[in-house]
Amino acid sequence: MKKPFRIAVLASGGGTNLQSIIDQQQSGKLPVDIVLVISNNPGAGALQRARQAGINTLCINHRHFATREDFDQALVTALQEAAIDLVVLAGFMRIITPIMLTAFPLRIINIHPALLPAFPGLNVQQQAIDYGARFSGCTVHFVDAGVDTGPIIVQAVVPILPEDSAATLAERILEQEHRIYPQAIQWLAEGRVKIDGRNVVIAGNSGCNSTLMNPMD
Ligand code: GRF
Repeated sequence: MKKPFRIAVLASGGGTNLQSIIDQQQSGKLPVDIVLVISNNPGAGALQRARQAGINTLCINHRHFATREDFDQALVTALQEAAIDLVVLAGFMRIITPIMLTAFPLRIINIHPALLPAFPGLNVQQQAIDYGARFSGCTVHFVDAGVDTGPIIVQAVVPILPEDSAATLAERILEQEHRIYPQAIQWLAEGRVKIDGRNVVIAGNSGCNSTLMNPMD
């Protein structure tokens, strides 16, 4: 029998991305074990969602650590104890240090609510509106030492409507996040993701269209 692909999800907030991963896994479409959900925030809705789904949870409060590195070391210890194959950041509001990157090289992924490399960082829905961009979207990427700079696995495009506020745009982007994050995790679990420098190739997918989900198709 194939060894289960063990993932941990790290989240600081409400956890709707976590929920989409749980839902896909429970419906049998996502061949992974969600072994552990970790939050730095004791009040995170994500912890609640995980408990409801019967997943082990851990709160590692960053405020209890003197440095980012000490906090990251606590994360690494917990993730290694749980023998995690892939670390999934889902609204995890902490900067990842080399301690985590060295422990899990090319095994940490993140989802960002903009079409990288445009609009890295925070409050990016408002930034895209203020800039006058016609499209934004979301990006699943490997985590590297920069902020939202790692190789891109999949993106989805979302039009920006004239009447959009940051909240309405965020909501429509989230719908696409919930499609592409489980999809990216599935590709990784199936061992189909190859990295060639900055270029990520998904074995068995033809052309680049398969990693650009266009909601207007
Ligand atoms: C998402 O927009 C994600 O792209 C960003 O943080 C938000 C998390 O939302 N990194 P949720 O907690 O998954 O609902």
